[in-house]
Amino acid sequence: MALITFSSPMHKDKTVYAVAGSHTQTILDLAKEHHIPIDFGCQEGNCGTCLVKVSSVDGKRRPMGGPLNVREVAALTELGHITKAEIEQMYVDDIPPTQWRLACQMIVRDEDILVEYPSK
Ligand code: FES
Repeated sequence: MALITFSSPMHKDKTVYAVAGSHTQTILDLAKEHHIPIDFGCQEGNCGTCLVKVSSVDGKRRPMGGPLNVREVAALTELGHITKAEIEQMYVDDIPPTQWRLACQMIVRDEDILVEYPSK
């Protein structure tokens, strides 16, 4: 099981267990399940409302996560949180090139992560 810690300057930190390996549960699904108030809109990866910052708990490496999907690439590009070079490198490394993620698109993996919200 992965430990996911949600942190916000406006709320008390909350750490929850995620059932890793489901390959379907998003950060937003997990937040909603535990009543963690991450803003969201479309839930389709289009609006960027659910932008969060994701990092490894130890802070020593980028979280594995999964590579960004097409919708996440488009939204993060529009929001100015990812460059074309970072996108190209992502396809080589097969890991996300940035800590910025869309909570409705990032699938929980078997790793302990810190999710910071709101993103602004
Ligand atoms: Fe719209 Fe996540 S809720 S991009």
